[in-house]
Amino acid sequence: MCGIIGYTGAEEAENIIVDALEVLEYRGYDSAGIAVCEADGGIEVRKCAGRVKDLRSLCQGKRSRGTCGIGHTRWATHGGVSDANAHPHKFENVAVVHNGIIENYRDLIRRYHLEDRLQSQTDSEVAAAVLAHFYNGDPLAAIRKAVLKLKGTFALSILFEDIPGVIFAVRNVSPIVIARAREGSMLASDVTVLGQYAKEYFVLPEFYVAVLKKEDIELYDMSGEAAAPEWLTVNWDVDRSSKGGYPFYMEKEIMEQPQVIKETIMPRIREGIPDLSADGIPDSLLLECKRICLVACGTAMHAGLVGKALMQSLVRIHMDVELASEFMYSDAIVDEETLVIAISQSGETIDTLEAVKHAKKNGARTLAVVNVRGASVARVSDYVIYTNAGPEIAVASTKAYTTQLAVLYLLIGRMAYIRGSFGEKEAREFAKELTRVPDVMQQVLDRREEIHYIARSILNARDVFMIGRGLDYSILLEGSLKLKEISYIHSEAYASGELKHGTIALITEDTPVVAVVTQSKVQSKEFSNIKEVQSRGAGVILFMKETFSLEREAVWDSIFKLPAMEDGFMVMPASAALQLLAYYVSLDKGLDVDKPRNLAKVVTVE
Ligand code: AGP
Repeated sequence: MCGIIGYTGAEEAENIIVDALEVLEYRGYDSAGIAVCEADGGIEVRKCAGRVKDLRSLCQGKRSRGTCGIGHTRWATHGGVSDANAHPHKFENVAVVHNGIIENYRDLIRRYHLEDRLQSQTDSEVAAAVLAHFYNGDPLAAIRKAVLKLKGTFALSILFEDIPGVIFAVRNVSPIVIARAREGSMLASDVTVLGQYAKEYFVLPEFYVAVLKKEDIELYDMSGEAAAPEWLTVNWDVDRSSKGGYPFYMEKEIMEQPQVIKETIMPRIREGIPDLSADGIPDSLLLECKRICLVACGTAMHAGLVGKALMQSLVRIHMDVELASEFMYSDAIVDEETLVIAISQSGETIDTLEAVKHAKKNGARTLAVVNVRGASVARVSDYVIYTNAGPEIAVASTKAYTTQLAVLYLLIGRMAYIRGSFGEKEAREFAKELTRVPDVMQQVLDRREEIHYIARSILNARDVFMIGRGLDYSILLEGSLKLKEISYIHSEAYASGELKHGTIALITEDTPVVAVVTQSKVQSKEFSNIKEVQSRGAGVILFMKETFSLEREAVWDSIFKLPAMEDGFMVMPASAALQLLAYYVSLDKGLDVDKPRNLAKVVTVE
């Protein structure tokens, strides 16, 4: 939910930290701050409500020459948006930036008599106060004692005023990655920023303490024993973390989809058949499970709905899709015969992470589909298949979603083949159609100006309804979320057969309705449902498979004919079209497409 950064080395820290915060801003952007160890031995804190650019202006008023510092960009959880609640928080001689939630902060306030000593309403300042309470010159001992008192999630980056040039870090659930970079050492909330400076990094293990110095990095467990980091390689090149000339990351990431889908699919098709052996996925895992339960949030969950529809129709295995935030409380039927699939772009969504832990406790085997290598969900799962989407910076997920779908297609194709639903011929045809996806999506992207024109018809809408059946309904659930989260237009996706059971009461003259018709087996019913809303005055925007025929007398606001694929793959071109629709509405409304209000890219609070 927040972005944290730390640097200590040969260079001045201020610019490195503020530049890094700009990259991390997608994790939260309601306030920002920096603390630097000054040459005179003190720690200088500068922070403000607003964006990182406001912090940069604040710093320009009083430059710091220090070479060691920590920084933070915030997504408010405890305490409103204000200068005082911005991080870093300094308490006595300890300065802290924090990502996560300290659930017992009120108890700690009482226990350490902090009531009249705090400057903010945040749980993070309480963490700083507890560290200061235990600090008597031994930082490792203070950190060990303090974290034992904290309940909840935390990624803490810490400065002690009398230990200039050294950054300490400790975490529980919330992520921290660490690298040697810029003639020094760096830590960050995720590898998106480190990837610009380093090729090797490690994930700070939970409840280990890292000590970052200019010349090296030390790692200790809770007993004070030294430990060796497990180094990983940054798996994407740096220039994919910049906007590449587009006005917003979201447009760049939409346009990257054909390439990253290809990079996700091609290494996993061997001799024309889907093959997951290179990911270490044994066929036995896919053969032995009696049912599947998929857990995810938001867009990742929508990918799961597509997976469910295809898994059940092609593999004939029962599959549930559970909202990860509901999963632990839904008494879901999960046991040794269940394969739990967890989808998460960031791999740090705490709802999904806790769902995987819950599934394992119930005996299930777990398979993660994750984009960020080494992320928590990947590490806690038995197996992982990485999407090769590269860094996804825009809060609204696009290429991560379609590469998640690509992995699900591979999984379904493999399971259908080894479980006998597909013979070799069908498996090859399925894989061949999957390899067509990048080109077909490119055809939609090449026509994006048509969609930009269509978008203008709903620019000022207050409500937009989206209707479809079966896979079309799953496609629209995702299309509706895209529109809502970046244009702030209230949009709802409805199974079009359900409209007449209540919702159609909301359809009046000129109500904008987006319809998707791509599935042969339900197209006639979908057109009937469209007629029902048209007869009540709705203005319908239709996205339909180009091979379907249209009834002449109907009146359409707009029609966009989608390049044809087998029905089960039409999700891909249709999703690209709906992503563009949402993007252009937000763009033409002059909104910050990449950083929608109230949202953050990674949700590490339950
Ligand atoms: C996607 O557009 C949303 N920003 C959000 O729903 C996201 O998909 C969800 O928070 C899950 O994130 P994850 O894939 O990183 O777990």
